[in-house]
Amino acid sequence: MSQTWIILGATSTIARSFARLASGRGDGVLLAGRDIDDMAATASDCAARGAPLAEVIAFDARNASSFKAILDQASGIEGTLSIAVFVGSMPTQDEIDADPSLISGTIVDNFTGPAEFLTMIAPLLEARGNGTIAGIGSVAGDRGRLGNYVYGAAKAGFHTYLSGLRNRMGRKGVHVMTVKPGTVDTAMTWGMDKLPFLAQPEKIAADILRGADRQKDTIYTPLIWWPVMTIIRLIPERVFKKLKI
Ligand SMILES: NC(=O)c1ccc[n+]([C@@H]2O[C@H](COP(=O)([O-])OP(=O)(O)OC[C@H]3O[C@@H](n4cnc5c(N)ncnc54)[C@H](OP(=O)(O)O)[C@@H]3O)[C@@H](O)[C@H]2O)c1
Repeated sequence: MSQTWIILGATSTIARSFARLASGRGDGVLLAGRDIDDMAATASDCAARGAPLAEVIAFDARNASSFKAILDQASGIEGTLSIAVFVGSMPTQDEIDADPSLISGTIVDNFTGPAEFLTMIAPLLEARGNGTIAGIGSVAGDRGRLGNYVYGAAKAGFHTYLSGLRNRMGRKGVHVMTVKPGTVDTAMTWGMDKLPFLAQPEKIAADILRGADRQKDTIYTPLIWWPVMTIIRLIPERVFKKLKI
């Protein structure tokens, strides 16, 4: 049966790689995001690579009135419907400390906006009894670090939401996967130095598609982040609070 991905945050560097990869193997893509022209270019590319459906639609995580049109379009899509959430924003901790009002937008972009959309579309997927929801979190959500704990807190909230959604949707045949990338060479990290284990977006996209096919619950990508975060999570708080990692 054919599969179509609704890709939220489709102008993301990783999302573009994911859309191309999925299209190349014959999946359809409905690209959802804020920059229609940028997504139209990706849609043309996806169609050329073989996507049977390659369309664009407006989505703004901070404007829930943009969600309904996507639901309407989704309900008309035949075959397996899957969703991949790439939406996210990461002001630096210094920017947030100087302007704490940035916190609420960070939480909406990384957590509550996508969660509200997924909660709205969940009954449609449950009724169909198949499909995958892949939510892109971050290793930053595994522990509050000095350098980005607001972004980390938003991702931790999204991880917990996805865990509960997995419990709910799995009972109806819908698979929910939590993706925890490490550092990736994208618009979000350009200009930052000393990024450990920096991965290319194509690698992350391939891991997400493979994880979805294998119905993984949670993946670290690249895999090196699984042992790294296991160790970091085990560091006692009295030690961790003195580290600058
Ligand atoms: N890069 C990394 O090292 C890294 C590591 C771990 C996790 N991640 C996560 O991976 C995902 C993809 O990020 P990326 O690295 O590919 O960075 P990116 O290119 O900056 O992508 C971020 C995406 O989020 C979209 N977005 C932000 N706020 C939005 C809103 N209110 N409504 C709709 N879309 C919104 C952006 O859209 P616009 O183009 O309209 O701004 C863009 O498409 C994010 O969830 C990020 O947190 C990244």
